[in-house]
Amino acid sequence: MASLDTRSEAHEVESSMSPVGSEAANSTPNTEFSAPCSPQQKSQILKDTRLSARKKLAQLTLEEKVSLLTAADFWRTKAIPEKKIPAIKTSDGPNGARGGIFVGGTKAALFPCGISLAATWNKALLREVGQHLASETKARSANMLLAPTVCMHRHPLGGRNFESFSEDPFLTGKLAAQYVRGLQENGVAATIKHFVGNEQETHRVTIDTVVAERPLRELYLRPFEIAIREANPWAIMSSYNLVNGVHADMNDHTLKDILRGEWGYDGAVVSDWGGINSTVEALKAGCDIEFPFSTKWRFEKLIEALNKGQITQEDIDRAAENTLTLVERLKGDDMSKEEPEREDNRPETRKLIRDAGGEGLTLLKNVGDVLPLCPNTTNVAVIGPNANRAIAGGGGSASLNPYYNTIPLDSIKKASNKEVVFAQGCHIHKWLPVASPFCTEKSGLPGVNIDWFRGDKFQGDPVVTQRRTNTDLFLWDSAPLSQVGPEWSANVTTYLTTTTTGRHTISFMSVGPGRLYVNGKLEMDLWDWTEEGEAMFDGSIDYLVPVDMEAGKPVELKVELTNELRPIAKQKQFNATHKYGGCRIGFKEEDRVDYIQEAVEAAKAADVAVVIVGLDAEWESEGYDRQTMDLPSDQDKLIEAVVAANPKTVVVNQSGTPVAMPWVDRVPAIIQGWYQGQEAGNALADVLFGAVNPSGKLPCTFPQRIEDTPAYNTWPGENLKVVYGEGIFIGYRHYERCKIAPLFPFGHGLSYTKFEYGRPELLQRSLTADGTIDIVMGISNIGSVDGSEIIQVYVNDEKSRLPRPEKELVAFEKVFLPAGETRHIKLSLDKYAVGYYDTSINSWIAEEGTFRVLIGASSADIRHTSTFEVKESFTWLF
Ligand code: BGC
Repeated sequence: MASLDTRSEAHEVESSMSPVGSEAANSTPNTEFSAPCSPQQKSQILKDTRLSARKKLAQLTLEEKVSLLTAADFWRTKAIPEKKIPAIKTSDGPNGARGGIFVGGTKAALFPCGISLAATWNKALLREVGQHLASETKARSANMLLAPTVCMHRHPLGGRNFESFSEDPFLTGKLAAQYVRGLQENGVAATIKHFVGNEQETHRVTIDTVVAERPLRELYLRPFEIAIREANPWAIMSSYNLVNGVHADMNDHTLKDILRGEWGYDGAVVSDWGGINSTVEALKAGCDIEFPFSTKWRFEKLIEALNKGQITQEDIDRAAENTLTLVERLKGDDMSKEEPEREDNRPETRKLIRDAGGEGLTLLKNVGDVLPLCPNTTNVAVIGPNANRAIAGGGGSASLNPYYNTIPLDSIKKASNKEVVFAQGCHIHKWLPVASPFCTEKSGLPGVNIDWFRGDKFQGDPVVTQRRTNTDLFLWDSAPLSQVGPEWSANVTTYLTTTTTGRHTISFMSVGPGRLYVNGKLEMDLWDWTEEGEAMFDGSIDYLVPVDMEAGKPVELKVELTNELRPIAKQKQFNATHKYGGCRIGFKEEDRVDYIQEAVEAAKAADVAVVIVGLDAEWESEGYDRQTMDLPSDQDKLIEAVVAANPKTVVVNQSGTPVAMPWVDRVPAIIQGWYQGQEAGNALADVLFGAVNPSGKLPCTFPQRIEDTPAYNTWPGENLKVVYGEGIFIGYRHYERCKIAPLFPFGHGLSYTKFEYGRPELLQRSLTADGTIDIVMGISNIGSVDGSEIIQVYVNDEKSRLPRPEKELVAFEKVFLPAGETRHIKLSLDKYAVGYYDTSINSWIAEEGTFRVLIGASSADIRHTSTFEVKESFTWLF
């Protein structure tokens, strides 16, 4: 939706918070309950779902059919109990199953983020992740996970790159297919998203993605195409943006011609949240279900459109039938009551997450074998802003309230038998940390009180009073709308007590109009704010208020806020006066510590310094893109100072996207740490101390400079248009073509052992439309520790009518090899490995000629080449 938030810290709500129109309250979980997949549900999955959908459709009135085409609330489709049609409950997605409350909901398993999973290149693992996510989804009493995210990494600054897999469509599609399979074989629908052209967050609901047909087919549609061919996701989510001038939810070309037409897709298309943009065109193009509940575009407007002849009965029937097919696939006639959400914190899921984390960690550099560290002899100094806190995921709808977190410093201490010292190094807050740890409400409990008033004028007595534990008050899905109505006002009160005396700082940002009083004095008036910030999707920038405070003496903070839409100009633009409201109060005590000097001392005294740097869920999130590839705050300075103090320095970078590494030549060992979910700390310690041999490889190129990147000149567009001017050359396709040496190439990743690639044998020498080229080759672990290698196969079309990339990834395999062992593997190529999309014939084509097969350990480390022929050109559509 155009308006979701990023943070995942828990809050506690003491009164009902079910959204208007919801069928059941989004209650906080009852952990006692355990809901197995009913036998009835299982048998429904097997029968001919479309046929039964049609039978049910025949019994519905027009109004009932139309009611199925808009959600019943934020997360559920409409139930029609009289006709035995149950509701489907959805849940975000993609690195966990969050459940029905956006911030601070039911605790859930937090898996490594998309790019970390992609760095494993392990198809079997992705399937297992899907299987475990199915159990997690069911534990939230949901049937449909809003995942996987398969948007391409077009540019390193993409705010949601961390959530999706790669810059390569083949790697993305193959992994997504396994993830979908894992979910659906356990009766949970995947909702592959966002279809299509949603590669940036800047202006994401209004940006027009101008993309030529060939890159659209070869890059941006390709992951969807592969996943649909191989795993048939039962749902697909249209994106917010426009594609070549038409919004994605009403785009005939992508939805009708390609998805339903050429690919014959038989699932349901759902809108992104708030992403329907018309009554007639969206339905006709094939966007079946609007999410979340809204009266803006459908219901009687569809009936009016039918009466006016703008849509036909078949249009409504088709969408209703697709919705019913989804319901049949997931629930059949199962009308049992939706159970409360529950936790399902299983040891086997915890293990899988730790293993997946370890497999995704990518060793970029290890000069002089600084790694692995020895737990019995190495004195380690752990330094850095991300060392002593949990950096488990990115922000936005992918965030959730994890069962637990593991913190690198703790995990390293546990893994080491020597003394481990810690130095903070610097802070990287984008906004001041939430004030919650310092705040108590009037009865002395942690948190804030909110007094809610009906109407936006603070009139009468409060109709609801709540206590919440978090001063990040993102109220999008948790205002008590059924009591306060669509226009409301609220007073937030809390008492902030510090442990030190000093000139401290309070921060304040507001979504609607807001005023902050400190000890009764108005300190920040944001009633008519105009400058938009990034937190909370629709909030103001963060304003700082310095306040002199005495240790132990509480300061009263009071905020007045309403849900009127701000900045005021938006009221006209969106034809609405009110939205969801909210505010965020941050706090930081004054500190006069020389963090870098502290870090230098710690590094000097240790055998090895491990510096854990990077980004976090504030810097990388849905809703906005990054502004620069540089590490924020003093991190580069910190690394330079530490490596100067101790040349045995390991840098661990936690981010979902590449960062600039101006210190790369001076630091001997670098690990790309991604966001690894609840086991992030343990997985890192496993690799640092060699309990796990790293085997991750980069799913995206790390460029030297932002200026080298393929979309540098067109990112993020102008006047609400972004032209994908680099065409088919994104990622390594661009660096190879322009002969620009990256910092670390696509597919790169080291191990604590060494692998030798045997000479490949091609079992066939020519490829036909339905044939394969089977490649057999030996791979040996010639080092002294067990390890896994990812063998990558690229193809190069020697001569082609249209320009083609130097290399395209067409097959890969991850192989585990005990030290000293050799295995033979078989990789197969088919027509999809050689085709390109030719717009002069509107079809994929394999052109006759010679193709080179390049087999290597990364896109830049090719160990063997061979060739095969396509003797006669052939074409295909899907
Ligand atoms: C996101 C989707 C998400 C949905 C529901 C939207 O803002 O783009 O990916 O599934 O919200 O939270």
